[in-house]
Amino acid sequence: MESPRQRNALRTIMDEHEQLSMVIHGMLHFVRLIDKGEKAPGLMVFRAMLYYIREYPEHVHHPKEDQYLFKLLRERTNELDDTLVELEYQHTLGESLVRELEHVLARYELEGSPVFPMFRDLVEKYATFYFSHMRLEEEVVLPAAKRLLTPENWAVVDAAFVGNLDPFSGANLKDDLEQLFLLIVNIIPAPASLRPAI
Ligand SMILES: [Fe+2]
Ligand SMILES: [Fe+2]
Repeated sequence: MESPRQRNALRTIMDEHEQLSMVIHGMLHFVRLIDKGEKAPGLMVFRAMLYYIREYPEHVHHPKEDQYLFKLLRERTNELDDTLVELEYQHTLGESLVRELEHVLARYELEGSPVFPMFRDLVEKYATFYFSHMRLEEEVVLPAAKRLLTPENWAVVDAAFVGNLDPFSGANLKDDLEQLFLLIVNIIPAPASLRPAI
């Protein structure tokens, strides 16, 4: 049976995935509007989305997965070794794709429509990549964690994901990102089923 701690950590991971998904859907919506010749918000909004995507996974979400969830799972089993190596590689790959997106966005701002197809394709590629990353975690890693981690393991993972062992220190980055997230989802409507319960 799941302990309350287990539910807290898992809930937090799923909530963070849901928020990342909403912002990525916002990015897709943005380029698809431009692609159809419809009015899209200014590129500053896309920059805000990219900033959120860059900061949230890199500073808040991935380090906790790598340093706590994946590390403790490795101590409990070898059965996930290949999957965890792949997911850690994807964390690094995701960061480089975001850097590429920033670069192509800058070119799009400077050079205009000739660069748009490259920009659109990279957003589509990033979305496909990141949705599949989260699916692998949700369908393989989280069920294995439920099965294999001990209550002591969960106490550590839970503490990390609810903020007591935040890998970043000082500034209220998470609060700032929450504010930015609300701003983004209010500017670009995500599909109704994905809207946050505010
Ligand atoms: Fe991840
Ligand atoms: Fe994740």
